[in-house]
Amino acid sequence: MIRKYRYGEPFETEAVTMEIGEEQGVPAYGEIDRADGFSFSYRMEPEDIVYGLGEANRGLNKRGFCYVSDCTDIPDHTEDQQSLYGAHNFIVISGRQCFGLFFDYPARMVFDIGYTDMERLTVSCERAELDLYVIEGKNAYDIVKQFRRLIGRSYIPPRFAFGFGQSRWGYKTMEDFRRVAEGYRKNGLPIDMLYMDIDYMQDYKDFTVQEENFPDFPAFVQEMREQGIRLIPIIDAGVKVEAGYSVYEEGVRQGYFCKREDGSDFVAAVWPGDTHFPDVLNREARQWFGDQYRFLTEQGIEGFWNDMNEPAIFYSSEGMEELKTVLRGYMEDTKEIPLWDLGAMVEGRANNPEDYKRFYHRVDGKRIRHDQVHNLYGYYMTRAADEAFRRIDPDRRFLLFSRSSYIGMHRYGGIWTGDNRSWWSHLLLNLKMLPSLNMCGFLYVGADLGGFGSDATRDLVLRWLALGVFTPLMRNHAALGTREQEAYQFGDTGDFRSILETRYRLLPYLYSEYMKAALQDDLYFKPLAFVYPEDGFAAGVEDQLMLGDEIMIAPVYMQNAGGRYVYLPEDMLFVRFQKDGRLSQELLTRGHHYVEVALNEVPLFIRKGRCIPLVKAARCVEELDTEHMECIGFPGASYTLYEDDGLHRDYENPKNYRSLTIQ
Ligand code: GLC
Repeated sequence: MIRKYRYGEPFETEAVTMEIGEEQGVPAYGEIDRADGFSFSYRMEPEDIVYGLGEANRGLNKRGFCYVSDCTDIPDHTEDQQSLYGAHNFIVISGRQCFGLFFDYPARMVFDIGYTDMERLTVSCERAELDLYVIEGKNAYDIVKQFRRLIGRSYIPPRFAFGFGQSRWGYKTMEDFRRVAEGYRKNGLPIDMLYMDIDYMQDYKDFTVQEENFPDFPAFVQEMREQGIRLIPIIDAGVKVEAGYSVYEEGVRQGYFCKREDGSDFVAAVWPGDTHFPDVLNREARQWFGDQYRFLTEQGIEGFWNDMNEPAIFYSSEGMEELKTVLRGYMEDTKEIPLWDLGAMVEGRANNPEDYKRFYHRVDGKRIRHDQVHNLYGYYMTRAADEAFRRIDPDRRFLLFSRSSYIGMHRYGGIWTGDNRSWWSHLLLNLKMLPSLNMCGFLYVGADLGGFGSDATRDLVLRWLALGVFTPLMRNHAALGTREQEAYQFGDTGDFRSILETRYRLLPYLYSEYMKAALQDDLYFKPLAFVYPEDGFAAGVEDQLMLGDEIMIAPVYMQNAGGRYVYLPEDMLFVRFQKDGRLSQELLTRGHHYVEVALNEVPLFIRKGRCIPLVKAARCVEELDTEHMECIGFPGASYTLYEDDGLHRDYENPKNYRSLTIQ
C-alpha cells in the first residue's frame, strides 16, 4: 500500500513512474512540522532497524548518524562524512511498526537517524515543497519491492559489462592501453573492458580525442575489440570554454548552458579549466548534450562513465574573485597570512554551496535556481546519454554509469561509488553499501576495486577483487600518482588469475540473477534479515550478504586474516574457488563457524536445497561456453537460468529461461 502526500508545489523530478493519487490528511506515522521548512519526525523503538539511503556512509542499519542528501564531490570517505555523491531519499523503518518513506525532494535534505537523540528519526529540509510517499507492507523486504515498482525498472547493461574492467587515471596513449591489454592477455587474465580516463581527450574537452595519441581512433577501438576488449571513455559534466571548440560554441549559441542571474553563462573551473554546465534539466539542451555522445558511438564506442556531475566545481569565477579580495585585504592589513586560514580559504572554494546558488536552469519556461534541484544534475546528465542511445540504436544496450545520482537515474544507468581509498575499511564500506543501493533501484553498481586514492597492497587488491567477483560492475580503478594496481603488478599472477576466472565461471549465474532482479523489481544483494526474517541473529549481520536466491557471500575484509567468522542461518554448502580452478566443497550446519579462506580464494555459500551453474573461464564474456554448464550445490536441486543475447532488449521472451538440474 503506497500513499502519496504533497506539500507545496514540488519540482517534478520524475523519480516515480507509477501514477499515485494524492492523499488528503496526514501520514499514519510520525509527525510533520511545516513551521520552519519541512520536517518529519518519528520516535523509534530500541529494536527498530532503519534501512535505505542507497549510497551513504556507515552501516546497513543507518541508525546512529546524521546523513545529508547533498550530492558532493568528496574524495575522503571517512567515517564522519555526511554526504557522498548520490542522494537517495528512501528509508524503511523495520520493527514493531514497519513502513517505508520516500522523500522526493531534489535539494539538500537531512536524515538525523538517532544522532541528536538516539531514539528520534528526523528528516528535514529547507522548503516544504516535496512529495512524501509512505509505504506499508508485510515486512521491510515487501516494502522495498513495492518501492521498486513505484520507481520503475532498473537499468540493464549489456552482458559484456559483467566482465572485468581495468581503469587508471593516467593511461594516455595507445601504447599505454596496449601495454595494459598485453599485461592481461599475456598472463592469461580475463578482461572485457579498458576504461579511458580524462587523458584520452584533447585538453579535457568532452567529445574530443587527442589526435597525436590516437591518430586513427576507430581503428584502435577495433584493434582492442579483436582482443575481446571494449574501450569505455569518461565524459565529464563541464564543457570547456574555448573559442573554436564546437561543443562550446554551439552550446553558447543555442543557450544550452546554465546561466547566472544576469543571463550570462555560469563559469566553473574543473579539469579543463573554465567550463560551462549543460542545462540537462532542460529538455532541448538535454537532447543536444546527449547527441554529442554520437561522436564516440560512431567510432565504435559502446559504453561510457559520466563523471564530475554533482556537478563538481573546483572554484567559480565569483569564488575566485572573492578569494582575491580577501587575500588583498590581508596584504594591505597585515604582514603575514596565517597558513591555516589560507588553506581553508582555498579549499572552501571547491564545491561551495554559495556557487550552487549562482546559476539557473530553465525548465518548461521557468527559471530554477540550481541549489533547489542540485541533486538531480548527475541523474539528468546520465538520462541525456541514455535517451540519446535510444535514438541512436533503440534496441541496443549501452554500458553507462555515473558518479552522481538521484533515485530515478537507476532507470538510465548504474553508478560507481566514487573516489574511495586503498583502505581495508573501504572494502567493508563497499560491502555494506551494496544492498542499500539495490533498495534504491541501483543494481548495476560497484566500487573502485583496490581503492582509488592511496597506494594499494597486494593482499588488499586480492581480497577486494574477491568481493568484486560478485558486484555487477567489477572494475579496478586507481588515481594518478598512486601505486600501479593492475592484476599483473604484484608478482605471481596465478593468484589474480584464479580470482578473475572465478568471476567468469560464475558469470552466467550472476547475469541471470541480475536480470531476474531487474525484471522483477527485486534485489540482487539482500541483507540476511530479508531472507530470514524470523532469525533474530541474522538481523544484526552486516558483513555477509545474500546474492540472488541461491547464495550468500562473506568476503574477508581484514588484513592478515586467514579467514573469518560467518553466521549461517541454515545449513549451507561452503564452496571455495581455489587456485587453478580447483573447488573445495564442505557442508556446514546452521550456526556460527570460522572458515579459512586463503588470499587467492573466493568463498561463497550455497543455500540448502539449491544449486548454481558454473562454466569454464574464458578470456572475455563473449567467449564463454554456456552450452556446457556444470551445476554445484545440493543433490536433486534445480536452477532456472535466464539467458539472452546480452545486447538487445528482448527481455520478455519466455525462451530466455531454461531449467538446469544438478546431476
Ligand atoms: C574523479 C573521478 C575519478 C577519475 C578522476 C579523473 O576524481 O571520480 O574516477 O579518475 O576524476 O578523471
